This record gives sequence, C-alpha cells and structure tokens, in this order.
Amino acid sequence: MPDVTITATKNGPYAVTGPVTITDHNGRKIDQPAQIALCRCGQSANKPYCDGMHLSIDFDGTLAK
Ligand code: FES
Repeated sequence: MPDVTITATKNGPYAVTGPVTITDHNGRKIDQPAQIALCRCGQSANKPYCDGMHLSIDFDGTLAK
C-alpha cells in the first residue's frame, strides 16, 4: 500500500505527500500540481489548493488538542 502523508503545516496548508487523486464532489478528477498543498484557512482563490492567502490573513492554524 502506498504511503500518503498529510501534514498540517504551522499556520498554513495541509501538505500532501504520496500518490493521491483529488476529485470534486461529483467524482471528477481535479488537475493537481506536483506538490499538493490543500487550503486550511478557507481563503484561497484556488480551492482546494493553497494560494498563499493564509499569509495575508495571519491565519492561526493551531490544532485542537
Ligand atoms: S492555507 Fe494557504 S490559502 Fe488557505
């Protein structure tokens, strides 16, 4: 089984490593970059991917314990 890791970066996106397929709500595959960073702040103009907007809004990505 291939290893997939999703890392919640500090105050930034989820970094995804390993072979994954990302689809929309209808199951259609979405074009994906070589390095996948999924938006965690909700403010990206390129969802589901991070576009760096979290830096502009001073996103606090502190994880719940
Ligand atoms: S986490 Fe980067 S734009 Fe949302």
